[in-house]
Amino acid sequence: MRAHEAGALHAEVGHRGPAWLRTPENVNALLPQLWPRTVTRDDAGALTIGGVSVHDLASEFGTPVYVLDEADFRARCHEFAESFADADLYYAGKAFLCKAVVRMLAEEGLSLDVCSGGELAVALAAGMPPERIGLHGNNKSVDELERALDAGVGRIVLDSFQEIDRLTEIAKRKNKTPKVMIRATVGVEAHTHEYIATAHEDQKFGFSLAGGAARAAVDLVMRQGILDLRGIHSHIGSQIFDTDAFEVAARRVLGLQAAIRDAHGKELPELDLGGGFGIAYTSQDDPRSPAELADGLRRIVKEDCDALGLAVPRLSFEPGRAIVGPAMFTLYRVGTVKDVDGIRTYVSVDGGMSDNIRTALYDASYSATLAGRASAEKAILARVVGKHCEAGDVVVKDEFLPADVQPGDLLAVPGTGAYCRSMASNYNHVPRPPVVAVRDGVARVIVRRETEADLLALDVG
Ligand code: LLP
Repeated sequence: MRAHEAGALHAEVGHRGPAWLRTPENVNALLPQLWPRTVTRDDAGALTIGGVSVHDLASEFGTPVYVLDEADFRARCHEFAESFADADLYYAGKAFLCKAVVRMLAEEGLSLDVCSGGELAVALAAGMPPERIGLHGNNKSVDELERALDAGVGRIVLDSFQEIDRLTEIAKRKNKTPKVMIRATVGVEAHTHEYIATAHEDQKFGFSLAGGAARAAVDLVMRQGILDLRGIHSHIGSQIFDTDAFEVAARRVLGLQAAIRDAHGKELPELDLGGGFGIAYTSQDDPRSPAELADGLRRIVKEDCDALGLAVPRLSFEPGRAIVGPAMFTLYRVGTVKDVDGIRTYVSVDGGMSDNIRTALYDASYSATLAGRASAEKAILARVVGKHCEAGDVVVKDEFLPADVQPGDLLAVPGTGAYCRSMASNYNHVPRPPVVAVRDGVARVIVRRETEADLLALDVG
């Protein structure tokens, strides 16, 4: 991609969409892998979710609005919990967290991974049993560690030698024996369909396995005997579609487990292989089901353990995106439609990079559909952009929309449940949208819309 002073996306003008994007036979069709399960079009062609029309959602809650399909979210929790029944599942709260979601997780039997004092506060406020909370982070403050210990969280994932010292000191002072894991960086970095496996790694998280830091951290914690070391933790990346990269990571971590057993005469009872399971954002993405993932991962660990003479440890995983990502869409209203010199049609919606930064930040691809009605017009290639004062404010880079898309239309972007509301900003003082959960014909606000008064309340003058 060419560099451009106004941002990478700006440099793409003139380009006619990615090679994979084909003119759809039916521009109103909904690809099942992109949409929450209860989404369908009603007789008039409008989307409904959980039995509620997007017109009703827009008039009651305004736009933009993130809409969560509660039945779909719970079904995904359930499928993961069932497929990984012999493992612990920690939903990665960074993907999207609020009290209602914490309660749904607790009811569906999942545990919760938090990575800041703020996420911990939400989890505790919603009544998640503290022993089902895990705390992550490469720079947890003393205050965060103390709060975690006071609350009685189930495990803390250690990320540096300074943190081992800090937590050991706090544990002694509070006369507690917290359960901990050592986060190892295993030299595997995986994103989407690609992964790189190297002998070394260059990143802020964890203890290097190849460099010996992971082993040294384990030795230190075991020697001191203050912290209760449960096992090794490895998270290799996000939006991963197959188990190859996990296979390399697991082999490397289990090699360390075997070396620890040989040195200390004790096997660590647990192993966490992180999250990162991919979801569909466009027609090109073909994610594995939780059952396929679980079978593959179980087989990989079993084979390695057999080869190393290790008992299979209790496994845990931390899916975030794969649970909440597909369960939500963002509903926008179109404000302007601009045909730019026959090059491209720009469809501007009433949100943008403040409610979905992923397109601008990661060059992520999304899909969109006209939500308020079906259209018999031909499909045109469009770019969905936001209302922010920035040329890189793109929500959907390329999508076919009906040629009669016009101001006032509702537009829905699927797959926005993960890392959209949780990474939302107030850029241009645009208040952040609410999250509305829909189930069995009932819609309720679970995170209310931010207001200009909220923004002014922070601005103490
Ligand atoms: N566990 C750990 C230790 C993690 O760091 C992460 C994500 C997860 C689990 C959950 O990964 P997931 O299953 O959701 O892929 N903001 C980026 C993603 C950053 C993920 C950071 N860590 C995005 O929007 O794609």
